[in-house]
Amino acid sequence: MTIPIVLLHGFPLDHRMWDDVVAQLSSGRTVLAPDLPGPAESLDGVEPTLDAAADRVADAVRAAGAEQAVVAGLSMGGYVALALLERHPDLVAGLALVDTKSTADAPDARAKRLDVAARVEESGSVDAVRGMVDTVLGETTRTAHPELVQRVRAWIDEQPPARVAWSQRAMAARPDRTEVLRRFAGPVVVVVGDEDQVTGVDAAQDLAKTAGGAPLVVVPRAGHLTAVEDPACVAAALAELAQRVDAGA
Ligand code: MLT
Repeated sequence: MTIPIVLLHGFPLDHRMWDDVVAQLSSGRTVLAPDLPGPAESLDGVEPTLDAAADRVADAVRAAGAEQAVVAGLSMGGYVALALLERHPDLVAGLALVDTKSTADAPDARAKRLDVAARVEESGSVDAVRGMVDTVLGETTRTAHPELVQRVRAWIDEQPPARVAWSQRAMAARPDRTEVLRRFAGPVVVVVGDEDQVTGVDAAQDLAKTAGGAPLVVVPRAGHLTAVEDPACVAAALAELAQRVDAGA
């Protein structure tokens, strides 16, 4: 069995964010794209941490009969990928960090997340995160691709509020995992949209340096959701990473 690719989505979205990338990855390789951290009803009593989300991803990889995976995470998915690397290091054969970072939240960002989580929970609606459609898509997409704006808006509207609140609290609680990444000796690629106003190209350059000078793919005319805005470019970066993993295996 070739090593599978696991695709971990961003917030406040689900696995559908990866659909166009999955369609472009060459056949013959298993691709897993789980919803993080799983169905809303399965979160009752589970402390909101990305560690719990990472453990569920590890279970999904092992349930697919694999001992290792090429792990790609976009934004929140990248935070989960780094939690997976810390908790299940033998499982990660290669890492794609897409529009993401290894650092923890600053105190004000953490407080904002907890406030959003409380509002989503109290209102039972995702109103508090609906506006994110404008920050996660790049300016070019927002002006030239209204169909993508509509698609992302619909995905956000369809998220279960309980899972949105849980994910915000889990992200607020995440530690800095820069050293976890620095210690990783396997193949890495860092991807960022040149219009990403959430991560930023400078932060992606720093992340690539932390990852031992990993290749950096800057996706032109794409914002924070590169996998939605330019799936061909992201699929090519993942395919190249998987080839490096295969070559070293
Ligand atoms: C995401 O796209 O997953 C979010 O921007 C992550 C975050 O809120 O830090």
